[in-house]
Amino acid sequence: MNPTPRFPHFLHGGDYNPDQWLDHPEILEDDVRLMKKAHVNAVSIGIFSWARLEPEEGVYDFSWMDQIIHRLWDNGIRVVLATPSGARPAWMAEKYPEVLRVDDHFQRRHFGERHNHCPSSPVYRQKVRQMDTALAERYASHPGVILWHISNEFSGDCRCPLCTARFREWLEKKYQTLDALNKAWYTDFWAMRYTAWSQIEPPSPVGQNSNLSMILDWRRFSTWMCRDFIEMEKEAVRAADPSIPVTANLMERFWDYDYFSLAESIDVVSWDCYPLWTGKDDDATACDYAMNHDIMRSLKNQPFLLMESTPSNVNWKPVNKLKHPGMHLLSSMQAVAHGSCSVQYFQWRQGRGNAEMFHGAVVSHAGRDDTRVFRDVTEVGEVLETLDPLLYAAPVETPKVCILYDWESRWAVEYAQTGLSHGMQYHDTVLAHYHAFWEQGIPVDFRDMREVTDLSGYSLVIAPQLFMFRGGIEQKLEEFVRSGGHLVMTYFSGIVDEHNLAFLTDTPHALTHVLGVREAEMDALFPDESNAAVTSDGTAYPVSGICSLLELEGAQAFAIYQDDFYKGTPAITRHTYGEGEAWYLGARLTGESLDAFYQQLAQSLGIPRALDCDLPHGVTAHARGRVVFLENYSGKDQTFFPEGHWTDLLRGLPFDGHLPASTVRILTRDE
Ligand code: GLA
Ligand code: ZN
Repeated sequence: MNPTPRFPHFLHGGDYNPDQWLDHPEILEDDVRLMKKAHVNAVSIGIFSWARLEPEEGVYDFSWMDQIIHRLWDNGIRVVLATPSGARPAWMAEKYPEVLRVDDHFQRRHFGERHNHCPSSPVYRQKVRQMDTALAERYASHPGVILWHISNEFSGDCRCPLCTARFREWLEKKYQTLDALNKAWYTDFWAMRYTAWSQIEPPSPVGQNSNLSMILDWRRFSTWMCRDFIEMEKEAVRAADPSIPVTANLMERFWDYDYFSLAESIDVVSWDCYPLWTGKDDDATACDYAMNHDIMRSLKNQPFLLMESTPSNVNWKPVNKLKHPGMHLLSSMQAVAHGSCSVQYFQWRQGRGNAEMFHGAVVSHAGRDDTRVFRDVTEVGEVLETLDPLLYAAPVETPKVCILYDWESRWAVEYAQTGLSHGMQYHDTVLAHYHAFWEQGIPVDFRDMREVTDLSGYSLVIAPQLFMFRGGIEQKLEEFVRSGGHLVMTYFSGIVDEHNLAFLTDTPHALTHVLGVREAEMDALFPDESNAAVTSDGTAYPVSGICSLLELEGAQAFAIYQDDFYKGTPAITRHTYGEGEAWYLGARLTGESLDAFYQQLAQSLGIPRALDCDLPHGVTAHARGRVVFLENYSGKDQTFFPEGHWTDLLRGLPFDGHLPASTVRILTRDE
C-alpha cells in the first residue's frame, strides 16, 4: 500500500512547531524559504499544539494553523496533521484531574510533561474527540493534508479506578467466569484465588506483582486499551473524509504494547528512529536499526514511514554525538533500503527553550542555511527526488528468511524467573540471529504467532527462544517442515501456553517429533563461564549464557558440548522430517558462532544475497526494487569487487569497488 495516496512520493521533512514561533512572523516566513532550499516536501504539525488550538475550554483558535497550512501548500509542502492528544492544556488538567494518569504506585500524576493521559477517562475521550472532529472538519478536505498522525508515541498504562474497572470488564469478557480466570492465572499459588471481580487490581510493585499470567493479561489489556483509544481518534478524524490514512508513530525495542496487534488499528506504520552513530565501528548499531526497520515493515507487511530521526544529534543519550560526515545520508538510506517511504526529522527548527533546545534540528538557533547539517539534509532531499521515480512504487521483495518475533512470548520470556532470571534478553537474542543475515545482505521478514501468520513462502524460519506457543504455531511449524521448509529453533521454546502455564508435555511442546529431540534441562552460565558446541569435523562454536541438555529422539547430534558435566552430549541437533529439516540449538551461540552457523546454512539452501560476494565486517548490502544500497558502517574505507558490473547511480559512474567510511553507494546492475 502507498502510505500517502494524496502525495505518492518519498516524503522529506519532519516535525515542525510553528506554534513556538507565533511571535516571530519573520521566522515563520523564512521557514518556508529554507524548507524549499532543503528539498523538504512534507512536515508534521500540531503534535503538541492543544494549548494553542483550544486556549480555553470550548474556545478554538485555528487561525494560526490555517495560515501555516495555506502557506505551506502555496509552496508545494504537504502536511502530516497530528491530533494533539499527546499533551493537554493546563486548564483541562486543573478542571478535570481524571484526565491525568495514575502510576503503578496508584498515585495520580499532576499537570505537566506529556504522554501521560488516562486512556479511559470519558472526559478526556470526549475532549479528544471534539478536538479531532474540529481538526478533521476544517482540514481533511485540504489537498495539502496527506496523513493523520494520531497523538504521539503512545506508551504506558494507567491504574486509576476507571482503568481498573475496564480491566475487570475486559477480563470478565475474556474469561466469563472467575473459575476460568483462577485456572488461567494459577491462583492456587500463594493464596491468590479471587472470589469477586472487584478484588482484581492492576499489577503493581505495591500490590500483585508475582502473578505472571495476570501480568501478561495486563499487557494484553494495555495493548487493547491503546488500540481502543486509537480507534476512537481514528473514527473522529475519518468522519469528515475517510480517504486520508492514519498512522501512529511507533518506537524502537518497544515493550508496553504488542505492535503486531496495534498495527491492525492503523493504516500506515511509522516510527521514530534514534541510533547513536559513532563514526567508528558501527556494525552493531547498524544491524540493530536495520532490524527495527524490518520489524516495522513486517508489522503490516507494507512500506512504512520514518517519522522521526535526528539530522545531527539527540540530547537525551548519555553521550550525544554528532553524525560523522556521510552518516546522515547513509543512515537515511538505510531506512529507505528496508522499506521506508520517507526520511522525516525531529525537528525542523531548534526550539529556544526547555528540554529540547539542544536537540539536533535542520535549522539551528542562528537560522542559517550554510551549516553542515543543512547541507547534509539538503543532500538527502535531492537523493530522495532522484530515487522517487525508480523506487517509490517498486514492490518490496519477499524475503526467503523469516524470524519469529512475538510480543506475547517476549513478555513471558522476560518475566520468567529461571535461567538468566529477568535476563533472557529476548530482543538481543533475536538480534544476534538477525545479524548473521544482515551482514550477508540477506533480507529478513519478522512474523509473530497471530493466526494470520503464514509461513508457507519462506525457505528458512527461525524461532529464537519461542517460549510461548500460541495461535497454532506448532501446527504451522510442523506443516512448514513437512512440506520442505527449514526450521531453526533454540533452547527455551515451546514451554508455556498462552496463559503462561507450562505445557504438561515434553519440550518443545508438540514438536519433539519434528525436531527429533527434547530439551531435558536448562543450565545457566555465569558471565565469565563459557562452553563450546563442537562438530564432528572439529569446528567449535563458542557458547555463553545458556546450555540446555538435550535427549535425542531421532535427530543427529550436529555438535556436542566441549565442557562441564554434560561434555559430549548434544548441543546442536538436526533432523530430517518430511521434505524438510529441523535444527535445534540447545545452547546460546555467541554472535560470531551464529554468523558462521547461518552463513553455511544460507549457502547450503541457496538463499540469495543482495550482492553475490562476501562483504567486509561492517559493510552490508540491501536491495529494493532495481537498486542495491551498499552501506559502510565499519568506520574504515573499504575496497572490494562484487560480481558483475554496477553503476553508482548518484555519480553516474561505474562502481569502482571503493567505499569510503560512513558512505552509501546506490547501485544498479548494468544490463
Ligand atoms: C521523540 C518524540 C519527539 C521528540 C524526540 C526527541 O521521538 O516523539 O517529540 O521528543 O523524541 O528525540
Ligand atoms: Zn485511567
